[in-house]
Amino acid sequence: PKRQYYFMARCRELVRKEAESLGRPLTFFVTTFGCQMNARDSEKLTGILLEAGYLPAENEDADFVIYNTCTVRENANLKVYGHLGLLKHKKKSKPHMRIALCGCMMQEPLVVEKLKNSYQFVDLIFGTHNIFQFAELLARTLESRKTVIDVWEGTQEIVEDLPVERKYPFKSGVNIMFGCNNFCNYCIVPYVRGRERSRKPEDILQEIKTLANDGVSEIMLLGQNVNSYGKTLKEPVSFAELLRQVEQIEGIARIRFMTSHPKDLSDELIQVMKESEKICRHLHLPLQSGSTRILSAMNRRYTKEQYLELAEKIRREIPDISLTTDIIVGFPGETEEDFLETLDVVRRVRYDNAYTFIYSKRTGTPAASMEQQVPEDVVKIRFDRLLMLVQEHARRQTARFAGTVQEVLIEEVNKHDSSLLTGRMGSNLLVHFPGDASLVGSIRSVQLLECRGF
Ligand code: 5AD
Ligand code: SF4
Repeated sequence: PKRQYYFMARCRELVRKEAESLGRPLTFFVTTFGCQMNARDSEKLTGILLEAGYLPAENEDADFVIYNTCTVRENANLKVYGHLGLLKHKKKSKPHMRIALCGCMMQEPLVVEKLKNSYQFVDLIFGTHNIFQFAELLARTLESRKTVIDVWEGTQEIVEDLPVERKYPFKSGVNIMFGCNNFCNYCIVPYVRGRERSRKPEDILQEIKTLANDGVSEIMLLGQNVNSYGKTLKEPVSFAELLRQVEQIEGIARIRFMTSHPKDLSDELIQVMKESEKICRHLHLPLQSGSTRILSAMNRRYTKEQYLELAEKIRREIPDISLTTDIIVGFPGETEEDFLETLDVVRRVRYDNAYTFIYSKRTGTPAASMEQQVPEDVVKIRFDRLLMLVQEHARRQTARFAGTVQEVLIEEVNKHDSSLLTGRMGSNLLVHFPGDASLVGSIRSVQLLECRGF
């Protein structure tokens, strides 16, 4: 961190000089694609840009624009190229503007090759492993007119204590681990985020205490597979044990976590959740497919029956739990029968919500070279059928709260109707109700009159 603070000071000097010559302050804009991990990383980028003396801009008409990219599905990549096309024009009329790209997509050698050849107006490219070096890379970019490219293949490093600028004053993500060792056959994450590394419990607890002192009441513990937290530490600690310790921290009212792999979800975790006053009654438990045959081809390492048993056990122990999931349609070799198994699980588990995805071929993953890729039109019809079922169940399932009074953390003034506030229940359901902006950030009891689905 010392080295990075040195470069932040250096950036401050460079930004001040450039602002002086332009006769106005310099501005920045961060665009985030993808998951909660990226959202948290963007808060770190923002922290450093503020430290460097940039002011936040409302949109991409800024002096420094950075895209924190995602590559989990092809769509995510296409969006970035689309945005870059627009930026090219902006930069033509504003030559001092700087454009940076970071995140998962930059970990793919083919992407960087394409950027080098066809997007030469990009000034800085770095990846997921050296995001902690952002201040240093920014200084290099500000000092040179050549594109700075620095992408690492991997790292064992976790650098603590760098600046972070939170998007919300009252809630925050907290990284507990980085990377993933699971290698599900469709997934590019282990290749772009590297092997599993856990932060030390004392660092995590210290960060949460600081957040609590700073007025944060809800935290979300983040990891690709939180259930295997701590296994690779010198002194191993289970995720359930970590949760027990987080629970003790005064000022934190709500604890969430993302994401759980069903194969690693322990009985100990269920017990800790059951006994906890603070852990939200919500579990995101990605299913991916309901067919044991496809699950095996995906390398998920559980069967349909094991998943159903687990869901039932959780419901038995924590009856008021809300379950949500991720499902992929059209994995190579998926037949109509396999797909019907997925629909069957959706009917049986009664999810509050399910995020549904069309299988996307990712270069370098084992599934990309599997035969029997399912034709696009077949996948599309299956996807629509699944979505209909998911929505029907989500509506029915979430309606159980109608007529009850629930605690809601108020997050913002409603984006469409400023007489309303929007808040979140422990179950992660969004709730809209009349109220005054001064309530934002507080936890209130709200009477729920009508359910409109997830
Ligand atoms: N195609 C479609 N969906 C994918 N996911 C991950 N990789 C792919 C892929 N290649 C989905 C999974 C995961 C979620 C974050 O994204 O459902 O749980
Ligand atoms: Fe990808 Fe599987 Fe790891 Fe999740 S657990 S990030 S789906 S490889």
